[in-house]
Amino acid sequence: MLKIFVILIVGICGTQGQVPVFDDCPDFDVVENFDLNRYLGKWYEQYRYVNVFELMGKCNVAEYSLNANGSVNVHNEQVNTLTGKIKTIDGNAVPVGEITEAKFIVNFPQGGVFSNAPYWVLDTDYETYSVIWSCEKHLFVSSRFLWLLSREQNASDKTVKKMYAVLDKFNIDRSLMVSADQENCS
Ligand SMILES: *[C@@H]1O[C@H](CO)[C@@H](O)[C@H](O)[C@H]1NC(C)=O
Ligand SMILES: *[C@@H]1O[C@H](CO)[C@@H](O)[C@H](O)[C@H]1NC(C)=O
Repeated sequence: MLKIFVILIVGICGTQGQVPVFDDCPDFDVVENFDLNRYLGKWYEQYRYVNVFELMGKCNVAEYSLNANGSVNVHNEQVNTLTGKIKTIDGNAVPVGEITEAKFIVNFPQGGVFSNAPYWVLDTDYETYSVIWSCEKHLFVSSRFLWLLSREQNASDKTVKKMYAVLDKFNIDRSLMVSADQENCS
């Protein structure tokens, strides 16, 4: 309930929330024959839909590793743009169905708005880019998250083009994206 409330409030307040749309979640296909092992490791954020938990965050990095029980440890790190302090949060991603289906549910035991949330890999080549989609329907609104990640801290133009092509294929609105700040990150 709190989550819905937060999403509605930040949604209504405009640019501070994740992107709220008065419609259902689109039924996107995810990448086929997902290879989790190749996907593990470090990813640098390049673009995202604006969301509350990355406000005033830069140098956003995600690192995925395998837990002993087969779930995926999600380690997110960002630097606060005001204080310069590093903030990390660890979550747990569990496959929704088959492990080769690129659909997970992510939980952050320490809390936060993004819990029990879907994590869909729309497309990845494992070596340069990943396009992640997350959408949840709450009453009349679906809240939408999008992340474009790359293996390099600064994605090459070629990599960005590949990610854009994925968005175009799914008809995902690029104008709602903001670019991640990877400058002066250690
Ligand atoms: C799997 O292990 C992780 C890390 O230890 C833990 O957070 C998670 O709750 C475990 N999941 C299940 C279903 O036991
Ligand atoms: C990425 O680009 C930024 C800004 O141009 C720069 O500060 C940073 O060192 C670059 N990182 C790498 C790994 O090249």
